[in-house]
Amino acid sequence: MTDFNYDQTLHLKQLLPKDAIDEIDHWMTKYPPERHRPPIIAALKVVQEHHKNYLTEELMQAVAEYLDVPHVAVYEVATFYTMFHLNPVGKYVISVCNNISCSLRGANQVIEHLQSRLNIKLGETTDDGLYTIKTVECMAACGGAPMLEVNKQYHENLTEEKIDQILSDIAAMELSNTHSETEVEE
Ligand code: FES
Repeated sequence: MTDFNYDQTLHLKQLLPKDAIDEIDHWMTKYPPERHRPPIIAALKVVQEHHKNYLTEELMQAVAEYLDVPHVAVYEVATFYTMFHLNPVGKYVISVCNNISCSLRGANQVIEHLQSRLNIKLGETTDDGLYTIKTVECMAACGGAPMLEVNKQYHENLTEEKIDQILSDIAAMELSNTHSETEVEE
């Protein structure tokens, strides 16, 4: 954990839009008022989605203050679950499962193919800021091993051709987004 000045804690309402705060409040109502820790995961998910897909010390401290839990409780959750990112990541985070079933069915080849196609190593982000590759623990899709997830979407029974198709689909989507933005500007 990096040094953090707790005197400078900002309130979550200063850091997030109202709809994000409403969503966290909604999750808080799902638990008895005296139980402050269960909504931590949901709150961190909301915060991450509203902050370029990663969490900072400042944000984690603000979540702790908002939920009235110790900062360390929030930090433990953020560092335990691989869906949370503590550093800037690409727009598309490619999470490759390397647990037992996926490993036995070729997770390493999946990783090697991705690294070669994107010209980055595990944990790195492409220069254009689009892709990050990381490994994760079992994602409960062992029947479709080897598998990966890109921004909440699962892709199973991977082959090199399927991986190429996933990357082509993303590239096409990016191109189409760029065209749409250009048209709006014109
Ligand atoms: S081992 Fe990969 S999804 Fe379970």
